[in-house]
Amino acid sequence: MSDSLAPEYLTALSDHLRQENEGSLSRAYELGRAALAAELGILDTLSLYEAAFRQLVLSAPSSEQPRVADAVINFFRELLSPYEMTFRGYRDANIELRRLNLELIRTNAELQAKQVQLIQSAKMASLGELVAGIAHEINNPLAYVLSHLKTTSASLARLEATGGVEPSSEQHELLERARDRIAHSQSGAERIRELVLKLRTFSRLDEGERKTVSVRESILSVLTILEHRCKERIEVRTTFGEPDLVECFPSLLNQAIMNLVANAIDAIEGTGTISIAAGRHGASYEISVTDSGRGIPENLRERVLEPFFTTKPIGQGTGLGLSITHSIAQKHGGTVELAASEAGGTVATIRFPLSETTLVRSE
Ligand SMILES: Nc1ncnc2c1ncn2[C@@H]1O[C@H](COP(=O)(O)OP(=O)(O)OP(=O)(O)O)[C@@H](O)[C@H]1O
Ligand SMILES: [Mg+2]
Repeated sequence: MSDSLAPEYLTALSDHLRQENEGSLSRAYELGRAALAAELGILDTLSLYEAAFRQLVLSAPSSEQPRVADAVINFFRELLSPYEMTFRGYRDANIELRRLNLELIRTNAELQAKQVQLIQSAKMASLGELVAGIAHEINNPLAYVLSHLKTTSASLARLEATGGVEPSSEQHELLERARDRIAHSQSGAERIRELVLKLRTFSRLDEGERKTVSVRESILSVLTILEHRCKERIEVRTTFGEPDLVECFPSLLNQAIMNLVANAIDAIEGTGTISIAAGRHGASYEISVTDSGRGIPENLRERVLEPFFTTKPIGQGTGLGLSITHSIAQKHGGTVELAASEAGGTVATIRFPLSETTLVRSE
């Protein structure tokens, strides 16, 4: 293409030399566009210029050479201006591309966070549903067991009072034993009722809104759920400060506490302790879970909040616990922090600002 453009270029340049004006410069611009359209690079265009320069400038009488050189340079400058415009176009497109790319990265991160939340919410919702269902199913028969135990013990007392005939020692012993067994059954049934209450507190499926709840109850309900994993192996200590009633998203806060306590349990091999403290610090509320476990290595501390980051064997950890806790803290306008505990374990702290109402009430 540069071959076919060369004679045209030379003719146009000669015209320009004879009559340097806007028209001849427009022609240079047109040629530049034609070169671009023919995908001629800057170096090819430079070759055109060089050939023309040699031919025209060097053949001109020496007195004319400066004028001819100026005219040739002007012509060439005009020829290059379509390239300049194209470069500017590239630069603008590049800036736009970079902006779009950043937007894409941001949207992607948001989507990932949403996906994590969805998975965890689905996980917790099905667990909550299961727990709520079981609690409901236990509650009905429990109600009549408790009620019948009461009437049975009342009937027994009446039977003893109305007989008139002194019971034989064998009958007496049987009555004693029946009374004792009824009392035991009653305390057992009471314990089941307490457990059911805690399960219901935990599931709180209907509480997707902000509510004022007892953090103490929330923590105790989480501990009830996880008790079987601590038994005889881990000593759990709790310290409940003021205020106890806090405005929050209750089911979410339960999830967050459960995730931290579950991690603390997993971090302890053999025996150890977990200390849970809750209470106000200035205008914030803090719930901290301190374990005597293996601790989080310094180089992993940044990564553990990442969704799907886990050091647990395949099938045991999804790596979602902390990232969801982080989102829950964020939903409360707060943070989750992980630090090394004095004993070499981990202190995980959820901190969020107390609402105006809670602050006023706790003043
Ligand atoms: N208290 C802790 N002590 C030591 N390591 C911890 C502690 N809490 C979290 N980690 C580390 O952080 C990783 C990520 O924790 P995260 O709760 O997000 O996921 P996970 O516990 O592995 O899985 P999931 O919670 O989904 O069952 C864990 O695999 C573990 O290596
Ligand atoms: Mg976890």
